[in-house]
Amino acid sequence: MEQYVIKGGTPLLGEVSIAGAKNAALGILAAAVMTDDEVIIENVPNVRDTRVLLQAIQGIGARVHYQDEHTVSICGKTIKNDKYLCVDDEYIRKIRASYYLLGALLGKYKHSQVALPGGCDIGMRPIDQHTKGFKALGAQVSIHHSMITAEAEHLTGSHIYLDVVSVGATINIMMAAVLAEGKTTIENAAKEPHIVDVANFLNSMGANIKGAGTDVIRIRGVKQLKGTTYSIIPDQIEAGTFMMAAAATRGDVLITNVIPKHLEAITSKLTEIDAIVEEYDDAVRVHCENRLGSTNIKTLPYPGFPTDMQPQMAVTLGLSEGTSIITESIFENRFKYVNELARMGANIKVEGNVAIINGVKGYTGANVIAPDLRAGAALVIAGLVADGYTIIDDIKYIQRGYEKFSTKLRALGASIERVETEKEIQKFKLKTG
Ligand code: EPZ
Repeated sequence: MEQYVIKGGTPLLGEVSIAGAKNAALGILAAAVMTDDEVIIENVPNVRDTRVLLQAIQGIGARVHYQDEHTVSICGKTIKNDKYLCVDDEYIRKIRASYYLLGALLGKYKHSQVALPGGCDIGMRPIDQHTKGFKALGAQVSIHHSMITAEAEHLTGSHIYLDVVSVGATINIMMAAVLAEGKTTIENAAKEPHIVDVANFLNSMGANIKGAGTDVIRIRGVKQLKGTTYSIIPDQIEAGTFMMAAAATRGDVLITNVIPKHLEAITSKLTEIDAIVEEYDDAVRVHCENRLGSTNIKTLPYPGFPTDMQPQMAVTLGLSEGTSIITESIFENRFKYVNELARMGANIKVEGNVAIINGVKGYTGANVIAPDLRAGAALVIAGLVADGYTIIDDIKYIQRGYEKFSTKLRALGASIERVETEKEIQKFKLKTG
């Protein structure tokens, strides 16, 4: 099984470019099948989740062609639209975003069947708001043998109020509504940058969506969607992860190909703890020489502090002067990494959805296991700072959402390698000892 081996203690220095946003790409790749024309999507992050979703899209009969590592053409014309149209294979059950094909295929063919989603184990992750939206548009939704089926004679616009601010439900309902008859309003909608990106993509295909990025999205159904060429926005969370790594290692990193507005909550909190963040048109520079200060964080839907940056922030605050408190208000099980971090010397106490962090002077290397995608990235940051060697298991989670993560970190001066055997670990230790 692949692992990361890291020798800590080197400040990150240099420049890193950010890939396309995974959580925008997953919605956009699914929505691309909603037309019979060819769609070309640029700046697709080359990560496990996008590769798995593209395999599933190919599996239902669409034509998928990689024009280059980050440009994909998709044509939904050849999808076998019959009663057997079903998205189910061992891979698709492993990713959360498989359910976007439910909304896309329901919107286009008025029926779809998808294996219930997998994804990171950070909480219950129900899909009741998704099904609430589909039913409001006129679909019957049922779950049998871990398959969810949605079908409708026709879809009619409706007024949908989300009981919970949900990124996935907002995107899924948007896709199901763009070809429905009449007007749909989604209230209490999620406002993340990736929601806006999916809406802009659908509008570039001829949809009529207004208000994405606010908590009220208005959609007027159209007859059909057409082909388009579209480039995905940069990944806010990958950018935030490198910002945190630069601060935690007391380095100096220019993070390019970003939209600084999307990073405001992260920038604000880093500035609060005395890191220096300089904003440019499409880049941010993060540097600091001294020990960071402490602060309090509450994760919230955008534009609040993103839950996907919570573990990375906790690792950084774990080294700060003083006590910090993190409240995780989105997911009920997103502190699993704390036990792993304790093995590296962190002093964090979790009580329910609150983590009380007493800063320590440093971490020491250990063997740890990545419990999920963002917690895995956070443990890498801890390893970069720790004294000695850290070995991280289950890095498949990290590879779901970070493209060439160890390569990018090595280019910033980190001693990190992806290894598969004990022999490779020994070789790394000899090389870096
Ligand atoms: C998306 O997950 C992201 N994943 C997550 O990123 C991210 O953490 C999350 O949004 C919040 O920003 C993708 O985009 C593929 P939600 P999603 O629906 O859509 C509850 C990463 O690291 N809820 O916004 O599943 C839910 O339990 C991943 O890239 C319902 O109750 O999140 C949670 O408490 C991890 N009913 C809250 O809403 C529903 O029908 C927010 O979930 C749907 C959600």
